[in-house]
Amino acid sequence: MTRSTAPHTEPVSTELGSTGSSDVAISVRGIHHVYTSEQTGEHVTAIGSIDLEVSEGDFVCILGPSGCGKSTLLYLIAGLLRPTAGEISVKGGRVTAPGRDRGIVFQEYALLPWKNLRANVALGPKIQGMRRAERNAVAQEFIDLVGLGGFEDKFPHELSGGMRQRAAVARTLAADPEVVLMDEPFAAVDAHTRMSLQEELVRIWRATGKTIVFVTHSVEEAAYLGDRVVVLSRPPSQVQEIVTVTTPRAERRSSEVNHAHAGIVAGLLGAMEMDVPPRAHRGIDEHG
Ligand SMILES: Nc1ncnc2c1ncn2[C@@H]1O[C@H](COP(=O)(O)OP(=O)(O)O)[C@@H](O)[C@H]1O
Ligand SMILES: [Mg+2]
Repeated sequence: MTRSTAPHTEPVSTELGSTGSSDVAISVRGIHHVYTSEQTGEHVTAIGSIDLEVSEGDFVCILGPSGCGKSTLLYLIAGLLRPTAGEISVKGGRVTAPGRDRGIVFQEYALLPWKNLRANVALGPKIQGMRRAERNAVAQEFIDLVGLGGFEDKFPHELSGGMRQRAAVARTLAADPEVVLMDEPFAAVDAHTRMSLQEELVRIWRATGKTIVFVTHSVEEAAYLGDRVVVLSRPPSQVQEIVTVTTPRAERRSSEVNHAHAGIVAGLLGAMEMDVPPRAHRGIDEHG
């Protein structure tokens, strides 16, 4: 049985200086969040109590049913919302507002329609004060990384849904955040495009060594992408279970031939369907 604190099962790229060390990138402590309607004053408790630690360079998926507070948790980490109670820190610094250490990719791609691909991807570096030649070079690097070389002069409406999501990923990465927060970014594209975007994201994660927190309601997606999958309970949400995915990624697509991975997927499905007190921090590996 693998503990939830197990180190990476796949080494991240070393040529870019990532050591795969277990330094804490994100710490979420005692988070509780209540929304209050401005019109009616009605309260909705989105998050009951969540504690979570994400190590530097980790790929963590947050999995749970619709309405369980996944987006809320991501917005709290991004600093777009302040928690009702609890504390979040990123690389040791307390989160009180959005910052360039955190980049977010939304479900609905957030590209500026009046700017071409190059200008959209160069936006973060531009806001950071980088000069034109330099920021265009940075933009080119990330456009190439997501496989959109040759489309630099196209506007968002000239790109397919999958290409726009690649562009949104490139734009977030070009701003060079410490952690990348992704809110169901591939939910709106067709199944085939979605699989290739998932594969590209894994390749990009390996190449950049970034810490990724990826929100999804899809068990398959979480089990393909994550080193660890944090399953949230129904609201007021808490951590239902944390599953460490030990299957090598190359074998994760073929769960019918890989029984270990099939077991992990089944475990995640079970945790999703459970509506009983959480059994947090249970690990599942090829023997479990
Ligand atoms: N701005 C808001 N005002 C009131 N309730 C909200 C607001 N945003 C989300 N909620 C409620 O909080 C809960 C969690 O929402 P959300 O974080 O969007 O869930 P998820 O992303 O898992 O689908 C839901 O019950 C939702 O209706
Ligand atoms: Mg959501």
